[in-house]
Amino acid sequence: MLNYSQTGQLSEITRRIVEPLQQDKKISVHMELLRPLKPYPFPWKFFSFLDAFPESAHMIAPALQPLTLRGNEKFDLVILPYQVWFLAPSLPVTAFLKHPLAKELLSGKPVVTVIACRNMWMMAQEKMKTLLNACGARLLDNVVLTDSAPTMATLFTTPMWLLTGKRDWFRMLPPAGVDAASINACSRFGLALRDALHANQERGTAPLLAGLKAVKADPRLLLSEKAGTRSFYLWGALLRAVGKPGQLRRRPLLIMYITFLIALILSIVPLSLLLQALLRPLLKRRLAATKHKFETPSGSGSERMSLYEQ
Ligand SMILES: Cc1cc2nc3c(=O)[nH]c(=O)nc-3n(C[C@H](O)[C@H](O)[C@H](O)COP(=O)(O)O)c2cc1C
Repeated sequence: MLNYSQTGQLSEITRRIVEPLQQDKKISVHMELLRPLKPYPFPWKFFSFLDAFPESAHMIAPALQPLTLRGNEKFDLVILPYQVWFLAPSLPVTAFLKHPLAKELLSGKPVVTVIACRNMWMMAQEKMKTLLNACGARLLDNVVLTDSAPTMATLFTTPMWLLTGKRDWFRMLPPAGVDAASINACSRFGLALRDALHANQERGTAPLLAGLKAVKADPRLLLSEKAGTRSFYLWGALLRAVGKPGQLRRRPLLIMYITFLIALILSIVPLSLLLQALLRPLLKRRLAATKHKFETPSGSGSERMSLYEQ
């Protein structure tokens, strides 16, 4: 099981999932803490936060401190929690997946991804699938936890949380982050994985976490995610041509980009949500297909909830 978290949110989710596995005498768990050689700051300074987008969008991995893994470990199942940075897997997790040992560790292995982010994760999961495919891993399940507050509120509360460390900087808006009840309820995934491992179900191809409300996709966000991904990629290429991460010469372009980005977010996101609401009858089938695609493999069904709810 991998572990990296800046605020502790993803570590707490990871802990809930891993606890039932650790408590089982027949299961041994290896926790691998990812430590970037040059740690990312938290709370972030405004420019270092913004400066992380070109490398995130282009998945240019930073160097990690040596892993405790050697590459010859034979895991039955790999749990891979990650946060989203600029619509891509966070850089420390990308660094693990691009590490020379990742192929040896993951080739042919069943993987469960666990995402905790604001609410835009669909394009990141597409990138994650490419990274996992390159390692020859088999994606069995995907669990997603997002902020329950409305998109237009988290557009403000999440950046303030990341820049100040305070979840409730805006007293009028709901606190940033995944709510405590949803985090506590993650133990159901650990319990279900424990039972699946006892029955060797990880050797098969069926998801282990179906029927447990593992993921609920909001297909209306895909349009904004696609526009954002393209913009991060193009501007990211320009910024990477201008200078290296942290170099002052990137700043003028970063200032230009943030102005453009704020205008984009304040116009495209609400506009695309409004348009899709107006065109809902026409888009119904396409939205349903997108929802199904992004909720695969684990799904949003709840039929096994009563077995594992505590
Ligand atoms: C640099 C950066 C970029 C982020 N970009 C996104 C994003 O594109 N989509 C999203 O839903 N959340 C985004 N987030 C929020 C994170 O996914 C995550 O929820 C938050 O950083 C807390 O994670 P932690 O467990 O590392 O503390 C971003 C966070 C950071 C630090």
